[in-house]
Amino acid sequence: MADRFANTAQSTQPIPVHAVGKGGDYPADITATQRDWLKATGFSGALGEVSLLPDGGAIAAVLVGWGTTATRARGRFHLAIAAQKLPVGVYRIASGIPDEDLENEVLGWLMSNYRFSKYRDAGAVKAILSAPDGIDVKRVEAMVEGDALARDLINTPASDMGPDALEAAFRALGEQHGAEVSVIKGAALLTENLPLIHAVGRASDQAPRLLDMRWGDLGAPTVTLVGKGVCFDTGGLNIKPGASMGLMKKDMGGSANVMALAHMVMALKLPVRLRVLVPAVENSVSAGAFRPQDILNSRKGLTVEVNNTDAEGRLVLADALAVADEETPDLLLCLATLTGAARVALGPDLPPFYTDNDELAADIGTAADRSADPLWRMPFWDPYEPNLEPGIADLDNAPAGGMAGSINAALFLRRFVENSSAFAHFDIYGWTPVAKPARSKGGACQSARALLAVIEKRVG
Ligand code: BES
Ligand code: ZN
Ligand code: ZN
Repeated sequence: MADRFANTAQSTQPIPVHAVGKGGDYPADITATQRDWLKATGFSGALGEVSLLPDGGAIAAVLVGWGTTATRARGRFHLAIAAQKLPVGVYRIASGIPDEDLENEVLGWLMSNYRFSKYRDAGAVKAILSAPDGIDVKRVEAMVEGDALARDLINTPASDMGPDALEAAFRALGEQHGAEVSVIKGAALLTENLPLIHAVGRASDQAPRLLDMRWGDLGAPTVTLVGKGVCFDTGGLNIKPGASMGLMKKDMGGSANVMALAHMVMALKLPVRLRVLVPAVENSVSAGAFRPQDILNSRKGLTVEVNNTDAEGRLVLADALAVADEETPDLLLCLATLTGAARVALGPDLPPFYTDNDELAADIGTAADRSADPLWRMPFWDPYEPNLEPGIADLDNAPAGGMAGSINAALFLRRFVENSSAFAHFDIYGWTPVAKPARSKGGACQSARALLAVIEKRVG
């Protein structure tokens, strides 16, 4: 992996990097000539500015603009802006970054080195960072690797990331960490009582399946992650218009992000008993596809009237959540690119989450803030429960009216979780539509870093 810290051999003479705020003081050890250079070239300390200080034919040091508190509040990963402007070399952080921001800024630098080079040469990483003192290097590396895994999985199109390939990636992750993986696939979903996963995925050439990973010591606190693994969402018979279908390779973003989080947890050997469940399906169109008005049974025994085959995510997750809930895990987290409505409400970068557990909500809020991995609580709003009841079956997968789409979907999922008292669902986007510092356009790791911090806090 090119996106880690410099190794010791590389970092013999790293170039010092100083962050200097708008109108701030220059570092004490720069020369009079270098000061003149900064003046002559108009370095002001504005966020994103970079000045290379010469020393004969070499770069003596780098100054990066650190802006003001107000300009920094508009984004995250400010060092990443500078990192991508630097020439080939090995660098070290010398001054100007507050201790409390160091880990996130370093993380942003490494995340900005992500390249998706599966289908073309995406260019080499130029600016390598040597690991600074005062941060947990292993933890940062685990987060960067998880971030890259999520982005790779999402960026890979459905032609190479169908249910077969997602299963292979899931098995590879399990193997890397010595986890046990089992898979229930095709007709076995019916005999194992997972009818919703089967119904949604049965129209595809690649059989629907439930991927199941277990890792860690028996007896440790139990954490179960459930991720939506819809490898492509055509909408099914309620087919999506072209513009809406355009991005639907990313509809396995929930599974990519639970795999990213699982990687972090396992790489750091957190003292938990981890389970990861991914219903992996393709929502396709064929003569065998499930239809509007079909009434399906679920694992839990609740019947569901399908009023839109495009509301497939909640169906596959319902069965997976029911499986998860049967063991009453200490913490149950569900990640899914579940609704367009969540984007309308909060935009692509601020996923809503839902939980009835105020203590868990507070932990998530704090962790999201500290991890520069923003999340926003929305309500499991009980008064909307009647929306979910169609009259002819227990549940309606797509309440009419077109309002409260993200809440309705969350309430639907909650019906399948009865025992777990610490349950949260994240309606993520899983995609960066316009490149931002540390985040190229494409697949996005969202909520996994915040949830790593939540798990760490809850297991001490
Ligand atoms: N995968 C989509 C949700 C989605 C769409 C996420 C766009 C991110 C961006 C999901 O399966 C879906 O189509 N949901 C429908 C539900 C509706 C039919 C009740 C939606 O949100 O429009
Ligand atoms: Zn859909
Ligand atoms: Zn979907």
